[in-house]
Amino acid sequence: NMYWILYILLGYLLGSLPFALIIGKLFYKTDVRNYGSGNLGGTNAGRVLGKKAGISVIACDVLKVVVAVGIVSYFDREASIWAGFAAAFGHCYPIFAGFRGGKAVATMFGFLLSTSIFTFQSAWYVIIPFLFFLVVLYLSKMVSLSSMVAALISSLYITYRQFDSSIEIIIASWLLTILVIYRHRSNIKKIANGTENKISWL
Ligand code: G3P
Repeated sequence: NMYWILYILLGYLLGSLPFALIIGKLFYKTDVRNYGSGNLGGTNAGRVLGKKAGISVIACDVLKVVVAVGIVSYFDREASIWAGFAAAFGHCYPIFAGFRGGKAVATMFGFLLSTSIFTFQSAWYVIIPFLFFLVVLYLSKMVSLSSMVAALISSLYITYRQFDSSIEIIIASWLLTILVIYRHRSNIKKIANGTENKISWL
């Protein structure tokens, strides 16, 4: 189907909107790529600019995926899964920020949230990984580790439940989990040698 190209492109372009960069430059006159981990994500925006900025970036990054999946699911449910994947991919490799973006955590959450709302109608594969995220964050204080664990849990759960017997959601979620882990390779090194950033307020 010819329209798939448009759906995927829409997802990629929406995902490419670098909200950590946009919000940082617009409201704080700061390019967060020059500070902290240098990552264009909610965690680094929060680290560099404060909690309010971090939460705003996370909300916008989640929303851009929800918008992509929401629009496409109106026309084609199956394609909406791949539009959501393309949005998370665009977040990591954004055309609007030199292809150097974030780590697909908020966007994978947006993918889970929006596919659960628009296509598979189960809240559990959003809630269960989110609870794991909170528990690991509370214990380790590391957003990176909590994010990778949550991504893995979501894919394991989706595979186990086999929603609507759809192989698409299983494949897309595993590809996203691999993307999340791959994008955290600098964090993995720091976790291993004990120098990973920890959040101070928990
Ligand atoms: O937001 C992604 C998070 O898991 C890690 O970000 O900036 O600590 O590398 P950061």
